[in-house]
Amino acid sequence: MKFLVTGSAGYIGGTFTFEALKRGHKVLGLDNYINSTPSFTSCLKENFPGRFAFQETSLDSVDDLDLVFKQFKPECVFHFAGLKSVSDSEKNPLQYWGNNFFSSFNIIESMRRNCIRKIVFSSSATVYGDTVKQPVSEDESLSSISTYGSTKIAIESFLKDCAKSNLIDCISLRYFNPVGAHAEKIIYENPLGNPGNLMPRIIRVALKIDEQVNIFGNDYATKDGTGERDFIHVSDLVDGHFKAHEFINTNNGYHAYNLGTGESISVLELISEFQTTNKLKINFNYSERRKGDIEVCFADPTKAHSDLAWKAERNISAMCKDAWDAVKDRDELK
Ligand code: WQD
Repeated sequence: MKFLVTGSAGYIGGTFTFEALKRGHKVLGLDNYINSTPSFTSCLKENFPGRFAFQETSLDSVDDLDLVFKQFKPECVFHFAGLKSVSDSEKNPLQYWGNNFFSSFNIIESMRRNCIRKIVFSSSATVYGDTVKQPVSEDESLSSISTYGSTKIAIESFLKDCAKSNLIDCISLRYFNPVGAHAEKIIYENPLGNPGNLMPRIIRVALKIDEQVNIFGNDYATKDGTGERDFIHVSDLVDGHFKAHEFINTNNGYHAYNLGTGESISVLELISEFQTTNKLKINFNYSERRKGDIEVCFADPTKAHSDLAWKAERNISAMCKDAWDAVKDRDELK
């Protein structure tokens, strides 16, 4: 099938694109490189010359997008493009609302003009805010504690209205904490720059870029005092997108699903697992809690299990092994 993938140069969008091409689909990737580099685009072009095309674009012109849709005529859109740093979103609300919301609006308007109905949207567990009830299920009320979370809630609401008006059929996939790398190690989570997420911070210590991981708070009411999250292997997350595509191909309307393992792992547990799996020492220290962090967040994934026949298969050791194996020998990261 023909897939249009926004954010195809990123970690998750790139992993999805790589797997879609391996499965025989044809992909047109779009990205503006605001949060990525052309390196994954080059890899995808080299590995799949006949079936992967790419356009650098900011999704900020409906007329330009209209032309892309007219020429490529995708059967389904996978919309990964979006800024995703909670802390950055607090400092740059205009950039986050402009980039995240209006790119989504332009995609839907282009789909409408070209009678394309099917879309899978990259949403986030952040839409649940600091919901106390854990594990969290899809019928929990949505509440944001960050600008980033507000943009995801607004986009889901917009997509739901468009589906209600029979314009589109949409699945929003609410990611928990994606980590790891595809088995072929071509696409990975880039640890360079100033990553906010925990796994790239662990990788930076393993690569000897940083001295230690700063653990943001060890006074939470959790199993060991550090934050707890639902870490999910990026390949399980990507498999969830293919199951979602199968579902939305034969179902109309708007649907939202959690993509998580249903297991809660603490920051300390992830560091310990990474050390044991990769036989490495990861130094860390405790620092103040990070503003906006919640104590515990993990999924109730039963709705995705039953509706999508999808379940996360890879364990935390595989996540740590694949995350490290994908970067450990890369000269460009040293
Ligand atoms: C995980 C845990 C931190 C870094 C964010 C987004 C979410 C999603 C995933 C897009 C927390 C602790 C982290 C560090 C630490 N992104 N930590 N030291 O905040 O759960 O979720 O990324 O969809 O929307 O909100 O992920 O990896 O930043 O933090 O102690 O250097 O690790 O306090 O407990 P988070 P994270």
